[in-house]
Amino acid sequence: MLSRINSVKTSFFGKGAVSLLIPELKKMGIRRVLIVTDPFLYKSGAAEYVGKALAEAGAAYAVYHHVQPNPTVEIVNDCITAVKTLQIDLLVAVGGGSAIDTAKAASIVAANGGRVEDYEGVGKSSKPGIPIVAVNTTAGTGSECTSFYIVTDPVRHSKMAMVDPNCMVTIAVNDIELMMSMPPKLTASTGLDALTHAIEALLARGANPMTDRDALWAMETVWRYLPRAVRDGRDEEARTQMAYAEYAAGMAFSNAGLGMVHAMAHALGGHSNLPHGVCNAVLLPYVTEFNAEHSTEARERIPEISKALSLPDERPYTLVRALRTTAMELGIPRTLKDMGGVSPEDFGSLADLALKDACMADNLYTPTREEVIKVYENAWSGI
Ligand SMILES: [Fe+2]
Repeated sequence: MLSRINSVKTSFFGKGAVSLLIPELKKMGIRRVLIVTDPFLYKSGAAEYVGKALAEAGAAYAVYHHVQPNPTVEIVNDCITAVKTLQIDLLVAVGGGSAIDTAKAASIVAANGGRVEDYEGVGKSSKPGIPIVAVNTTAGTGSECTSFYIVTDPVRHSKMAMVDPNCMVTIAVNDIELMMSMPPKLTASTGLDALTHAIEALLARGANPMTDRDALWAMETVWRYLPRAVRDGRDEEARTQMAYAEYAAGMAFSNAGLGMVHAMAHALGGHSNLPHGVCNAVLLPYVTEFNAEHSTEARERIPEISKALSLPDERPYTLVRALRTTAMELGIPRTLKDMGGVSPEDFGSLADLALKDACMADNLYTPTREEVIKVYENAWSGI
């Protein structure tokens, strides 16, 4: 099998890691920076915390602080206007997947031209975008180390998945200081997104020995430390382990691919504007059960997951039950019905979108439309 591994050139980890940017940016000779963040992180002082390091590196910066969860085409276009008007030579995303994905989309479109919609799918840009530093504040989407980004198309009520090595950031920063104040709900949903990345990467068509190693270590670590990080946000050890684990999960899926959970979650999130991590966490047990039933290869890998999660036995049923119970203990709704924002009449159109999503091609088994609808129905009723 032929494999390709993409990775970020430089990544910084640890409490206070933002300070490590100063000598790097000095070397790069960066002058005009746009910080891309959301209103909450702007007000909380996180953008300023990063801005201080930029100023010390001799860069002038402006702040675009209008990023919203599930960023839309409109937000990306807004950001591109700022990039062009201010003649920006570096984007510094401060936030989770939404801020980093906005910066990736703006970077690709500003450098390659056209519209953001033109880049939906795999490898659509011809050259790298404007350099990006991603200061990640959640653990997480892994967006700081992946070749993926997601933009919501409000016209089609769907999420466009872009897979493109040209969007990868130049420097990734996981500064624990910025993660300590993440509220329990966000810690849980982003942490379960990372768990989903690890499990889907292990079961993806593009999995290889290196992505397997990252995926298995990531799921073991998330399983062990996420409940602690949710219980006590100031638990530095738990936050540190989660930062490394979500990064490892990001590396795994960026190079192996994802699968049916993400394809169905993207359709769901685009429709209902619900948090990505929550959509994944609700769907993960049902899709895992479905894949174990329909794919021999997936079924054969379940024991590896069970072992990483220290489950009492290797049956798919035990894994599915553990995934459901743990998500509920972390405050995730048990079913799509409990989650709200969607109803069974939507499942046909959601299945159509999920089947077209770039992540579906990575799933070991290709489901029919009826099968995707059935999995949505099971997740709705909790069967
Ligand atoms: Fe994800």
